[in-house]
Amino acid sequence: MWFFYFCIMIRVLFVCLGNICRSPLAEGIFKKMIEENNFQHRIACDSAGTASYHVGKLADIRTRKNAHSHGIDLTHRARAFHKSDFNEFHYIIPMDESNLKDINLLKPESINSKIMMMRDFDMTGKGLAVPDPYYGNDEDFENVFQILKRSNGQFIQYLIKTHSIQL
Ligand code: 4NP
Repeated sequence: MWFFYFCIMIRVLFVCLGNICRSPLAEGIFKKMIEENNFQHRIACDSAGTASYHVGKLADIRTRKNAHSHGIDLTHRARAFHKSDFNEFHYIIPMDESNLKDINLLKPESINSKIMMMRDFDMTGKGLAVPDPYYGNDEDFENVFQILKRSNGQFIQYLIKTHSIQL
């Protein structure tokens, strides 16, 4: 059984409200880090929103511009978080408390996935929300990028340790 635990493809889902700003950027940054470390055979990711207003859309143009300036092209199309995601993903990573509350409203009694806040992994802002940049400016989008970069770096370290992933 332990062998299975350490060999499965680990699936991670990043969740925000609209799935057009924070979570697709978290997904893009995480994916780039996974590929740079050659972990794509062990770790996969996706993102979703707790609201469905933007379903089918590419990430917000400001998010895409910011990601592009850091060498990341976002091609994700927004989708809504669904109850079945608890079966599909080992880790569900909300960006803020409101996302967590909405996720918990759909949560079946027993789940196998772990729900962990994105900034639980941010050494310089543990417990804080990833701020929603939707009504903000370029600086706010860049701030979100830096938060997600820091948090994902530590999150990947956590996954490597927890699942004994070979470097
Ligand atoms: P996200 O940002 O949750 O990071 O994708 C938002 C996107 C859209 C809206 C709010 C937040 N909206 O109100 O449409």
